Amino acid sequence: MVAVAADARAPQQQEQASSLPRGNVEHGRYLAEHVAMCIECHSGRDANGNILQSDLFEGGSIPFAPPWPNDWANRAPRNRGLPGYTDEQALRLLTQGAIGRDGKQLRPPMPRFRMTPQDAADVIAFLRSLP
Ligand code: HEC
Repeated sequence: MVAVAADARAPQQQEQASSLPRGNVEHGRYLAEHVAMCIECHSGRDANGNILQSDLFEGGSIPFAPPWPNDWANRAPRNRGLPGYTDEQALRLLTQGAIGRDGKQLRPPMPRFRMTPQDAADVIAFLRSLP
């Protein structure tokens, strides 16, 4: 009986594991650095405002703010490796308009990304591939 119960659970676990499409690291790098621009907000900068290669995706401050009162984040946290995010949470974040891991929408200027699941999987694969 125990063995039967374990077998019955197996297909469900496989389904969960496969809900994230297989990601392409190089396409993810292209999206993160040149299209979705994650690198611009989420990296450290030197005194002249140049992105530090040693601080890529390690988190950065947002050097501007809107002139109106708003819910605004003045810092973009580290997203190198997507710490604290499961694949499912990261997929939701990038496909459903910046829903954070706690289920609440992140504050601007984090863009409300509506990527395709494949593009999101590529970005996730790239960020997870960084040492
Ligand atoms: C225009 C600036 C900007 C861009 C571009 C940007 N982000 Fe963000 N991101 C932010 C800010 C600011 C926050 C913090 C939001 C908050 O605190 O509510 C954030 C938060 C996050 C978080 C949440 C971290 C946590 O601790 O919950 C993740 C993950 C993230 N961004 C990933 C990405 C990815 C991946 C991309 C590119 C596809 C990207 N961001 C592009 C500004 C940006």
